[in-house]
Amino acid sequence: MNKNKPNITEVVLRDGQQSLIATRMTLDDMKPILKSMDNVGFSSLEVWGGATYDCCLRFLNENPWDRLKVFKKSIKKTKLQMLIRGKNLVGYKQFDDSIISLFISNAAKHGIDIFRIFDSLNDINNIQSSIKFVNKAKKNSQGTICYTTSPIHNENYWIKLAKDIEDCGAKSLAIKDMAGLLRPGVCFDLVKRLKKNLNIPIHLHTHSTTGLSDATNYKAYEAGVDNIDTSISSFSNLYAHTATESFMSMIYDDNTNPYDMNLLSKISSYFQSIRPKYEQYEGSMRGVDIDMLINQVPGGMLSILEKQLTDLKKSNKLKMLIDEIPRIRRDIGYVPLVTPSSQIVGAQALMNVLDNKRYKTLNKEFIDLVDGSYGQIPGTVCSKLKRKIDKNKSINDKDTDKLTIQDYKKELSSFCNSHHLKDYSNSETDLLNYILFKKESMDFYASNDRTTTNEVIGLQEGFGLYIND
Ligand code: CO
Repeated sequence: MNKNKPNITEVVLRDGQQSLIATRMTLDDMKPILKSMDNVGFSSLEVWGGATYDCCLRFLNENPWDRLKVFKKSIKKTKLQMLIRGKNLVGYKQFDDSIISLFISNAAKHGIDIFRIFDSLNDINNIQSSIKFVNKAKKNSQGTICYTTSPIHNENYWIKLAKDIEDCGAKSLAIKDMAGLLRPGVCFDLVKRLKKNLNIPIHLHTHSTTGLSDATNYKAYEAGVDNIDTSISSFSNLYAHTATESFMSMIYDDNTNPYDMNLLSKISSYFQSIRPKYEQYEGSMRGVDIDMLINQVPGGMLSILEKQLTDLKKSNKLKMLIDEIPRIRRDIGYVPLVTPSSQIVGAQALMNVLDNKRYKTLNKEFIDLVDGSYGQIPGTVCSKLKRKIDKNKSINDKDTDKLTIQDYKKELSSFCNSHHLKDYSNSETDLLNYILFKKESMDFYASNDRTTTNEVIGLQEGFGLYIND
């Protein structure tokens, strides 16, 4: 039997906590365990991505780039990995190549080694430029296929897409199964064929939502996959991933295991000890959700929709909302559900359910998605809906964000000036925060600036020492 030591990417710091506690884990809660994680021998640690970046600024009052500085300082042996939404980078709209280049060069400089690059529609045009800039920075550009099932998605479709990604210059390939739809046997065949047809390493990323992930990961390993993603046991399963320790135990017995299970147990206990703090962000799932195999709603998406309905005091509509999602998917050519298409389809499903009438209200982003503004959609749009979209298109004021880096710099500089803040536009990473999350970073900088009167008075009065890095 195949006993090659599996390469494992530990995802708790990004996707594990994103899937289970809505990305709320603070850097302070990560710091104490980073050195131990570095000693396990993981092939990489997934530490950064769109949701982590967004949540840092929006909810945690953290500068997302500070995380990279801390990770780079504490993690010396293990590669750092991030997730990029193609041309959208870590945001929700498409950016110009000059901004993509600025972002990637800074992320590379601050420690990211592996960039997993995906596009929610699997449109190769949306990931090409990121691959190019990652290669230019001499880092690992990992092209991604966003796995989904539909009448138009089959093995030949995936092989062709994977070949196109390799031809684009990607240094590795990820199968990203965000909803846990990949069945073990299908995965075995797909990995075998990918290994035969491609020269670059194949990584698998799947979620536990449907209860298939353990078997799927194991079959992928048997088929010769080059890397598996897992999350430490105390942040595993449910909306998240196969447990790291379980996966290792599937392959090795106590005597042959090259991984230090005691060290892993220590890491798991640490994360277990902090998890209760985030209880309010936990989803309602308690076991396995087989509906997911029919509805194809990714775990992360489901927990957000549940939270939105709870906030609107409409929790009773969850089942209706989940049923509406595959119907919308069929109407708009079977787009895979992953950021941003998952949010767009989710928001439209929410409107359809709240209105009690389908497509009575059309969200702007939904119009843009169907109209092809986000890229080519895989299948055919229902003709009745297409006519409705075309009618609404003219009144839909298009998001024509054509600002240059210099324009953004000027904007941020004048904002800082008018708010008596230090000029954040002089730092490329601060400028990137502003470009990617304008409103959130303005709030963040306004509330954090070290030179405000209160801070100065606070310091003078000895309320605490202030270290400005
Ligand atoms: Co994921």
